[in-house]
Amino acid sequence: MTALLAIDVQRLQGEIDALAAISEVPAPAVTRVLFSKRDLEARAWVRGKCAELGLTIRTDAVGNMFARWEGTEPDLPAIATGSHIDAIPNAGRYDGVVGVLGVLEAFRALKTAGFTPRRSLELIVFTAEEPTRFGLGCLGSRLMSGTLASGAAAKLNDSKKISLADWLQRMDWSKSDLASVRLEPGAYRAFVELHIEQGPLLEREGVAIGVVEKIAAPSAFRLQLEGSGGHAGAVLMPDRRDAFMGAAEIALALEKAALASGSPDTVATAGHVRVEPNAINSIPFRVLMEVDLRDTNLAARDKVLRQIRAEAETICARRKLGLAFEPINADPPAIAGAELVDSTLRHARAAGLSARRMISRAYHDSLFMAMICPVTMIFIPCRGGVSHRPDEYSSPEQVASGVEVLARTLRDWSEHLA
Ligand code: HGY
Ligand code: MN
Ligand code: MN
Repeated sequence: MTALLAIDVQRLQGEIDALAAISEVPAPAVTRVLFSKRDLEARAWVRGKCAELGLTIRTDAVGNMFARWEGTEPDLPAIATGSHIDAIPNAGRYDGVVGVLGVLEAFRALKTAGFTPRRSLELIVFTAEEPTRFGLGCLGSRLMSGTLASGAAAKLNDSKKISLADWLQRMDWSKSDLASVRLEPGAYRAFVELHIEQGPLLEREGVAIGVVEKIAAPSAFRLQLEGSGGHAGAVLMPDRRDAFMGAAEIALALEKAALASGSPDTVATAGHVRVEPNAINSIPFRVLMEVDLRDTNLAARDKVLRQIRAEAETICARRKLGLAFEPINADPPAIAGAELVDSTLRHARAAGLSARRMISRAYHDSLFMAMICPVTMIFIPCRGGVSHRPDEYSSPEQVASGVEVLARTLRDWSEHLA
């Protein structure tokens, strides 16, 4: 085992707690939705921390923030690292944040150890990893990787029909065209993201570090069902065209299809449902249902995607309901860079930490950074595998172990001149 870096666990935990306090809801929950007052406040707070470290900071047209520790070889593609600070409603304080504040602590520890990078090291704080505002996750990294065209992005609307373009007009960020967010393949030499596992494996196995080899393929789509509504007491059952009952039947068919897909990694849910007129004694005349469907196996996922679309059409035809099926995204899985995975595992073990290879079932900005350069992710355990809940928790020691491995990996790859 080689000497550990001087990671200040208390300072890091204090910063995690301070950032958690910048939230649209009271502690212990954290909510920070893209473009909210709290989101902008949190961005400014993180920017201040980057400035304290003397990093060179820029923000692109969609609000991705880049904080660079200039190396002695500034013209070589940098080693990038980072994550997100936005948080879904009623979330926890570690998702994304560990991969941003942990980088600052890694930089401090490397500086204290007298390290000077050769390839620059660049922290990226991505815009809207969470889909809350526009229904599409990884907005910033999708634009960076070219997965999302700037024209289509500008037209994304939030639930109040305010477009991304309108929102950006209100920001004091660079007013350059969204197309300028795009980075060419090779713009970075490597990208490493530190993140909580958001699953139970590491804790269950008592393993300190997970190194991600593959990120599951996410997809999402919207269903809008139109019925006839009416009085909940006066309309007899055979005369009804109940949009919610149709949506409920589709939701159960989705669950059945996911369980019967033949792949243990097929997961699906309908996490966002809007019922109109949303009154207890009125038959729903319209339902909007947003579905999240994933698998590490693309063929299995796409088979369920096709199957549920067909079943939704059959169910709505039988119930005489109108149906609009709107795909949101259907992305391929990402395969991590083998050399990056091997070296990260080596660094974990050299730090005296148990480590294993694993899959990420959650998506992350790494999924899209994989289209720009080799990526991997460093996972730390989270209590009970819980995430996207206020009781999400990783101990300061677990966070510090993740930072130790990240710092060693960044130091190593900053020296990779090939
Ligand atoms: O939904 C996800 O996988 C990520 O946490 N946004
Ligand atoms: Mn999340
Ligand atoms: Mn996350």
